[in-house]
Amino acid sequence: MRKKIIAGNWKMNLTVKQAADLSKAVKTGLQNNNHQVILCPPFPYISTVQTEIDGSGIEIGGQNCSDRENGAFTGEVSAVMLHSMNVPYVIIGHSERRIFFRETNELLREKVNIALHYGLQVIFCCGETKEIRLEENQKNFVENQLEESLFHLNDNEFQAIIIAYEPVWAIGTGMNASPAQAQDMHHFIREKVYSTYGQKTADALRILYGGSVKPENAFDLFSQVDVDGGLVGGASLNAEDFLKIINAL
Ligand code: PGA
Repeated sequence: MRKKIIAGNWKMNLTVKQAADLSKAVKTGLQNNNHQVILCPPFPYISTVQTEIDGSGIEIGGQNCSDRENGAFTGEVSAVMLHSMNVPYVIIGHSERRIFFRETNELLREKVNIALHYGLQVIFCCGETKEIRLEENQKNFVENQLEESLFHLNDNEFQAIIIAYEPVWAIGTGMNASPAQAQDMHHFIREKVYSTYGQKTADALRILYGGSVKPENAFDLFSQVDVDGGLVGGASLNAEDFLKIINAL
């Protein structure tokens, strides 16, 4: 049985006080939880959130990291910094990074390499735009994203990868992929991992769905056999909604 994950991606939202309050509310609401819950706050709030969630079993992820190790890269945050702050996860390849910061598959491959080198587990995002879906080319597109940024990894390295399928047209739009569309793509991704890394790795891989996950649709999405949880944006900013989504697991 794969352990399910709910990750909350707060993006560039909240003040430090709001971040502390939200963390506290999630921790309080999470009694007897046996799922894996990951919060991805903005970098400046990581310590605050760590203090608030201490002892709860909730884990922390970065929203991004640099492809460089250290040095004169003003404004960047490195994988080694995250590691040194006891942050076990990092999101790499979110569509907002790809679109607004022009991150390419090649750059993301470097980020994946450096994150793994410093012992982080990577939540690697993939997913097609609306145009690509309308052309029915989404599977080729996602396959290419995986091939160019992940499939150079060896078996051992790949164990530290979690994949998040996030169709761009579903992110922040209120229009989630249907459970059948999500299952179809997740199954496809697992098949590709199977043909590259074999049965054991494919069976163990967690594939999260992201894109307008809400309390109302979470149960149906998470009921699909290849959907191992969710990467939640907007709804993770509201403790009540986020807790309902966790409960839907
Ligand atoms: P959303 O964002 O839940 O607000 O659609 C998901 C994400 O970007 O990870």
